[in-house]
Amino acid sequence: MKHNVEVMISEAEVAARIAKLGEEITARYQGSDEVVMIGLLRGSCVFLADLCRQCELPITLDFMTASSYGSGMHSTRDVRILKDLDDDIKGKDIVIVEDIIDTGYTLNKVREILSLREPKSLAICTLLDKPSRREVHVPVDWIGFSIPDEFVVGCGIDYAQKYRNLPFIGKVVPQE
Ligand code: PRP
Ligand code: MN
Ligand code: MG
Repeated sequence: MKHNVEVMISEAEVAARIAKLGEEITARYQGSDEVVMIGLLRGSCVFLADLCRQCELPITLDFMTASSYGSGMHSTRDVRILKDLDDDIKGKDIVIVEDIIDTGYTLNKVREILSLREPKSLAICTLLDKPSRREVHVPVDWIGFSIPDEFVVGCGIDYAQKYRNLPFIGKVVPQE
C-alpha cells in the first residue's frame, strides 16, 4: 500500500508523558527491592528503554514474545508465546510493558500466564491504548495516551515491521 506517515503525537509529547509515567511508577514501588519490567517483543522495546530510564527504582528487565499480528495489519486473535521469560517471577513486583493495546488478546493471555507464576504484584503499563477496539477486558494500570482507531506507527510500533524507530507516534495515511 502506498502511504504517508503524519505526526499524531510529537516526540516532545511522548517524552513528557513517559517522564510522568516514570514518576508515577517510581512512587508506586517505593520500598520494593526489585521491580521486573517485562517487555513484550518486539513492539515494546523502544518504550521500555525510555520508560525504565525514567524510573528511580531497582529495575531488572526480562522479555517475552507473544505475537498475534505477524506482519499484517489485522489481529488473528491467535496469541502465540514464541519466547518465554528467562527468569522466575515468583514473589516479585512485575510491570508488563506494552507499546499498544488493541483488542486486548495479547495482554490478556500474557497476564493470565504470568499470574499463574505467583508474582508479588502484576501491573501493566502501555504507551498507547485504543479502547474502541477492545474485545477482551484487561486491567491496565498506566496508559500513556488513549487514541482513536487509527493505524499508528513509531516508538516501537510497526507497519509490516517498518517504522519502529520513528521518534514520534505517526498515523499511516493511504496515498491515492
Ligand atoms: C502488536 C502490539 C501489541 C499487540 C496488540 O504486536 O505490539 O503487542 O499487537 O494487539 P491486541 O491487543 O489486539 O492483542 P504484534 O503482534 O504486531 O507484534 P510486534 O510487537 O512484534 O509488532
Ligand atoms: Mn507487540
Ligand atoms: Mg506488530
